[in-house]
Amino acid sequence: MTPRQSPSSGTAAPAPSPDPTSPVYRDAYSRINGVVVVGEGLADRHFRLLARAIPEDGAELLRLGAMEGRHARDFIGCGANLGVRPDAALAKQLFAPLHALFQECDSAGDLAGCLVIQCLIVECFAVAAYRAYLPVADAYAQPITAAVLADEAEHLNYGEQWLQARFAEVGDAVAAICRRGLPVTLRILQAVAADMRAIGMDPADLVGSFCELFEQSLATIGFSATEARRLVFRSVATVPLG
Ligand SMILES: [Fe+2]
Ligand SMILES: [Fe+2]
Repeated sequence: MTPRQSPSSGTAAPAPSPDPTSPVYRDAYSRINGVVVVGEGLADRHFRLLARAIPEDGAELLRLGAMEGRHARDFIGCGANLGVRPDAALAKQLFAPLHALFQECDSAGDLAGCLVIQCLIVECFAVAAYRAYLPVADAYAQPITAAVLADEAEHLNYGEQWLQARFAEVGDAVAAICRRGLPVTLRILQAVAADMRAIGMDPADLVGSFCELFEQSLATIGFSATEARRLVFRSVATVPLG
């Protein structure tokens, strides 16, 4: 027997906005803010390493790194505004495999691998995450997040241009590093999926947006749409959000 339904059932009521002053929100925010602050700090380090590895673009890469350092400080301010300190210990643990992969590429002189990790993976991750956060951000964090988003698009663009110009030589290396880098990145999202929900974000939307952005980047640098979709899909399928 079908239960009786009210006339309004079938239309999901909008979820109430989470209260940024509640203990549940602040607890979740400490881990999300940790991922953001540590991710920005790591991006700063990666751009400094890239500046050394690509000296002809050194000044430009140091400029991009300095932007990441500012982003980290701005997001620490967003946490402080809510009386929250970032959970850096957890975030460092979550980012460790991706950073190790960057260091491995850097040590091996695999510039394409370094650029895929920082400028495609980390930057697509940042753009997708900040786009998802923007509509639910508190009034203090909202304009900061909007300004950071514009910067991240510039960083993504640097990597796309570099890889596009050398696609014939680096295409296979790009695909290889995607297969290793995408699953470890998605595992970061998986680890904080419940915290994202607690602050009003939809982790499934974020993953969808990340995959779309990443596929677009792969197509921009030279992969066919089918190759790009296959590369992303195979990596995502290994990491269920739960
Ligand atoms: Fe950034
Ligand atoms: Fe960035």
